[in-house]
Amino acid sequence: MERKKTIFEEVVIDPMAHIVSKTDKTGRIVYANEAFAGISGYTRAELEGKPHNIVRHPYMPKTIFKFMWSRLLKKQNFYAFVKNLTKDGKFYWVVTDFEVKCDDRGEIEFIYAYRKAAPKKGVEEVSKLYQKLVALEERYGMHEAEEFFLKYLKDNKMNYNEYVDYLLGNSSMFKSWFTSLKKIK
Ligand SMILES: Cc1cc2nc3c(=O)[nH]c(=O)nc-3n(C[C@H](O)[C@H](O)[C@H](O)COP(=O)(O)O)c2cc1C
Repeated sequence: MERKKTIFEEVVIDPMAHIVSKTDKTGRIVYANEAFAGISGYTRAELEGKPHNIVRHPYMPKTIFKFMWSRLLKKQNFYAFVKNLTKDGKFYWVVTDFEVKCDDRGEIEFIYAYRKAAPKKGVEEVSKLYQKLVALEERYGMHEAEEFFLKYLKDNKMNYNEYVDYLLGNSSMFKSWFTSLKKIK
């Protein structure tokens, strides 16, 4: 598989930016807003129609995406800290709130992702976990990484949502941001 170019340079995101995309149930992008295009370095036309892993950063654990898809396909909303890759190999951190939209028959029609710049403290904390997961995935495989992830949450006496709330610090502030973002789309 072709390894995408990465450079250790962070793209600073305007804290007011609302980065929105919408996919079908396979993760193919059907809508990208201007902010997403601007930050990722792609044009909207380059993003739309492509699988969302176009911005996948190799330092994001497979474990987190697997967990994410298992929740989304059960029509459960999800949120996560995500490190993304720009077209020219830089990175940016966002907090993403995923929202599943079903049609009249209850089938998944679209999945929305609303993103804001991630708080620095949360990024510092979650990076340690993600680095460990990526290392375990590479060295021992997915099973070991998933076991570690579940044990990590258990040892910290938190479920996943509680863990993300903890990373967000003032989660109520983010929750109200996400609620207002959902009205924009
Ligand atoms: C609505 C939506 C938004 C997504 N946004 C991102 C994203 O910003 N970055 C990312 O790496 N993956 C994102 N994904 C997950 C990708 O579809 C994919 O599962 C992930 O990049 C892992 O790719 P891989 O299986 O090729 O390793 C998103 C998925 C959905 C449904």
